[in-house]
Amino acid sequence: MSEKFERRFEDSPVNPLVGRIETISDIIAERYSRRDAFRLLAGAAASTGLAGGLSSCATTSRRDTTAGLPEPARGVDAMHHVAGGLEEAILIRWGDPLADGLGAFVPAAQSVAGQEQRFGYNCDFIGLIPLADGEDGAERALLCVNHEYTIADLMFPGKAGREATAEECAIEQAAHGGTIVEIEKRGGGWRYLQGSPYNRRITGRTSGIEMTGPAAGHPRLATSADPEGRYVIGTLNNCAGGITPWGTYLLAEENFNGYFMGARDGPETENHKRLGVPGGWYAWGQYEARFDVSKEPNEPNRFGWIVEVDALDPASTPKKRTALGRFKHEGAETVLNGDGRVVVYMGDDQRFDYVYKFVTAGRVDRSERGRNADLLDEGTLLVAKFEADGAVIWMPLTHGEGSLTAANGFESQADVLIETRRAADLLGATPMDRPEDVEPDPARGKVYVMLTNNTARETAEAGPANPRGPNPFGHIIEITEPGGNFAATSSRWDLLVRCGDPADPASGAAWGPGTSESGWFGSPDNCTVDGAGGLFVSTDGDERLNRCANGVWRVETEGLERGRSTMLFRAPTGAEVCGPRLSDDQRTFFLAVQHPGQGGEDYPGHARPSTFADPSTRWPDFDDAMPPRPSVMTLQRRDGRRFSDA
Ligand code: FEO
Ligand code: CA
Ligand code: CA
Repeated sequence: MSEKFERRFEDSPVNPLVGRIETISDIIAERYSRRDAFRLLAGAAASTGLAGGLSSCATTSRRDTTAGLPEPARGVDAMHHVAGGLEEAILIRWGDPLADGLGAFVPAAQSVAGQEQRFGYNCDFIGLIPLADGEDGAERALLCVNHEYTIADLMFPGKAGREATAEECAIEQAAHGGTIVEIEKRGGGWRYLQGSPYNRRITGRTSGIEMTGPAAGHPRLATSADPEGRYVIGTLNNCAGGITPWGTYLLAEENFNGYFMGARDGPETENHKRLGVPGGWYAWGQYEARFDVSKEPNEPNRFGWIVEVDALDPASTPKKRTALGRFKHEGAETVLNGDGRVVVYMGDDQRFDYVYKFVTAGRVDRSERGRNADLLDEGTLLVAKFEADGAVIWMPLTHGEGSLTAANGFESQADVLIETRRAADLLGATPMDRPEDVEPDPARGKVYVMLTNNTARETAEAGPANPRGPNPFGHIIEITEPGGNFAATSSRWDLLVRCGDPADPASGAAWGPGTSESGWFGSPDNCTVDGAGGLFVSTDGDERLNRCANGVWRVETEGLERGRSTMLFRAPTGAEVCGPRLSDDQRTFFLAVQHPGQGGEDYPGHARPSTFADPSTRWPDFDDAMPPRPSVMTLQRRDGRRFSDA
């Protein structure tokens, strides 16, 4: 979700505990003072031996990796920029045809049926599911990409300044969701295959999406169109996601509140309020009753879930897995635990909301892929409490345990899942600075938590795990799972970096030694790891505040250079960067450029609203007939080496 878009529409914390957050403001014995925290993060000070695992790796020498490539300069302009030694390519853009027989995208001739067979808008999560090599030896894979939201003023000719029409709203719905598309690597570069039988769109209009798990069929999910509460039309605001160990695609539903309008008095009022429903960001409710809460008060309960799709079976039914809880799911990155259980890490992206993980009850069956089909329907959802002594306590959200009882309005596990946030409030989870991607590193037993920013945190509400109030730049937490046991209920946490300009003491930023003027960033959002200590972070921050467009940075997590950051990619104006994903051989880096050209009035090179007719950039086509197009790109090293290689 664009920082600017979210700031305009989603600026209010909805956690009722804000202002009386005992886990932050009442901590008397802080783990370390702010000054100590700064020294800790300065990398070389790691050997001071403060708790949390920093000291153990302090003797590692510098690895000459992609971190050594010449960085682009800070700045903002209409074009993207890459580090020296990298070669970039556009893989697929909004509107590119997926089905056979479709021609090139003509933005003045859009239709619902057309958009349902073309790449969607505002690409976010990127996942890869490998396929067998082609007969000629070409590498093949399924590319799974989420489409988070739409910007009608940039999509449709003549839209700016008026309400969206019914047809435009339907096209917007068709531009949401996800894309599954076959890609192949030939002659060193990747291309997508129009007409592959695997190509598929799942959208805000896809019917028959099944609710599964403990909340499926609950009366609180019932609507006039679906009295049984079992089948939903559409998935919305698909931000980040994940790929399961059995090769299915997970789409997170994030700011679903924004699609609803109408009055909300009734038994669901408090539930809706905790999630910001109705957001009223879109006109859809004027044309469809299901987006009007006054007419269908239970419809919002059917969004805010993790959706699983078997991308290898184009006829498979997408399933909303209710066992993983309902909140503003940023992502759902998975790891196969040593004991065969699967752990899914999830952030709830709102100021003062929480970090979660889900541990399956069953174990992955390697003998037959299909036996894992419903593994995500049963397990334990846990929420994190970050203690001042460096412990993370993972508290189960299980009906009947602690305060999650009928006395508090939870009649069953379904109630706990439908109102996950309220359940986590009652358990005393730690309110965080907007948890975005939460990424496990299976090779090293670590987990990285992107806390993107929180300008609403008061100084008095700052604490060890959220050390700045306000926090306009965000920070990154590293969790160490004991002995690499990702299912553990007690872990350790540490700060990796505090974002912002290290040359400005007032920012409170802290980076590893050697971080250059280009190397610092703000608002970490998505990330991926190379398994060898490299953490790749993409950002969604304010261009003016950061004096730089968003991009991708590589952050070292080990050794004397822990916390050192270097820029690999800078996006065109208005865009955030999402979906960072390394190919299995680590030779291709996939990234998503989302909402290029949004917010033109904030870009001094444009300084007026960005519209279809007058956008702040026409990236990537730079064709006067084409508005900016959200796109997936690839980066490769010109020397052919891996992103983690020397
Ligand atoms: Fe969709 Fe939290 O970014
Ligand atoms: Ca995001
Ligand atoms: Ca990720």
